[in-house]
Amino acid sequence: MAVPERLLIDYPQLWELEDGTEVTVRPMVKEDRDKLAEFFKRIPDQELRVLKDDVTGGTVIDQWAQSLDYDRVLPLVVEIGGRIIADATLHRRRQGWRRHLGGVRVVVDPEFRHRGLASRLLAELADVATREGLMRLYVELPADDKPAIELFRARGFKEVARFGDYILDRKGKYHDLVVLHLDLIYRE
Ligand SMILES: CC(C)(COP(=O)(O)OP(=O)(O)OC[C@H]1O[C@@H](n2cnc3c(N)ncnc32)[C@H](O)[C@@H]1OP(=O)(O)O)[C@@H](O)C(=O)NCCC(=O)NCCS
Repeated sequence: MAVPERLLIDYPQLWELEDGTEVTVRPMVKEDRDKLAEFFKRIPDQELRVLKDDVTGGTVIDQWAQSLDYDRVLPLVVEIGGRIIADATLHRRRQGWRRHLGGVRVVVDPEFRHRGLASRLLAELADVATREGLMRLYVELPADDKPAIELFRARGFKEVARFGDYILDRKGKYHDLVVLHLDLIYRE
């Protein structure tokens, strides 16, 4: 699928990180498959094992690259010198009772953490979601993923639900799941 016109207008963007590093932000295209696989190889195994999708082995990344549908999932990648250093996604449904909701996920290369990149990506996805008329963002996280929970709390997300022993990680260990929400539009 080609990048829709409305996204071509907004991207690529040049961002300066808190330490002055310049990076490029743009929607993922199918040619990013190998670069994205390399990116996930740099993510520590203990983090990979609790990501929602199993990105080891390449099959899931192949599927992402082959079935890009920006109306359903908007994947933004951050690049520096041809290397992907972050991946952030906005997930939505066009119809049905979830049509006002946007799911978000973000992963940052360990070498580029603590420079405000994930925060800025979440702010960008919130802007896109607001422009697209979505009313609420949500994220589902393992309750023991402290950095991620702190990140989303710092951006105004509030915990709304917790499910005990709900996630089964790749190593067969159960974790509690927390759901956090951020309202984009005030509702009565
Ligand atoms: C969570 C993650 C995305 C943060 O990325 P980042 O670019 O380092 O985040 P930022 O620099 O924007 O940090 C924003 C805030 O998050 C919180 N935070 C980030 N890393 C943290 C850590 N290791 N411990 C505690 N809080 C942390 C802080 O509140 C921080 O604000 P501060 O810099 O003012 O202290 C990154 O650690 C990561 O990719 N983790 C693995 C993947 C994951 O768990 N993703 C979430 C699933 S959706």
